[in-house]
Amino acid sequence: MDSGKKSFLVLHGPNLNLLGSREIEIYGNLSLEELNGLLHTEAERLGVKLECYQSNSEGDLLDHIHGAVGKNQGIIINPGAFTHYSIALRDALAGVNIPAVEVHLSNIYAREEFRRRSVIAPVVRGQISGFGPQSYFLALRALCEIDEE
Ligand code: DQA
Repeated sequence: MDSGKKSFLVLHGPNLNLLGSREIEIYGNLSLEELNGLLHTEAERLGVKLECYQSNSEGDLLDHIHGAVGKNQGIIINPGAFTHYSIALRDALAGVNIPAVEVHLSNIYAREEFRRRSVIAPVVRGQISGFGPQSYFLALRALCEIDEE
């Protein structure tokens, strides 16, 4: 771990680049850039490093999960729609042995039937769903509390 600080990777999946303009009644009006900015400020306050990355492509997200090995001590991931069917993302998270927290802005269990199942949840430390941008901040706090890695 360089500089003695933990480094966490924040991964935003498909369509999250549209935050702030996309279905604002569900996802709110904070843009992704604003969210990442607030997360960086909070990370600094907590004394950890943060890398934020968004992609609409499953392969890019897989590469970033693989690339976290030896570099990041925790992963916060909002897999977007991949939550509900990407076995590849699930296998990547299961394979890297880095504590991960799955986050969702909306409460996926209070929405359409197809969103009520996460194929990711069984392989992560925990899932935080339904608190808007706070879901990410709660995940950050949770990762900071994990101290065995
Ligand atoms: C989401 C919920 C998913 O069902 C949806 O496909 C998203 C966003 C959320 O943050 O609430 O893209 O992950």
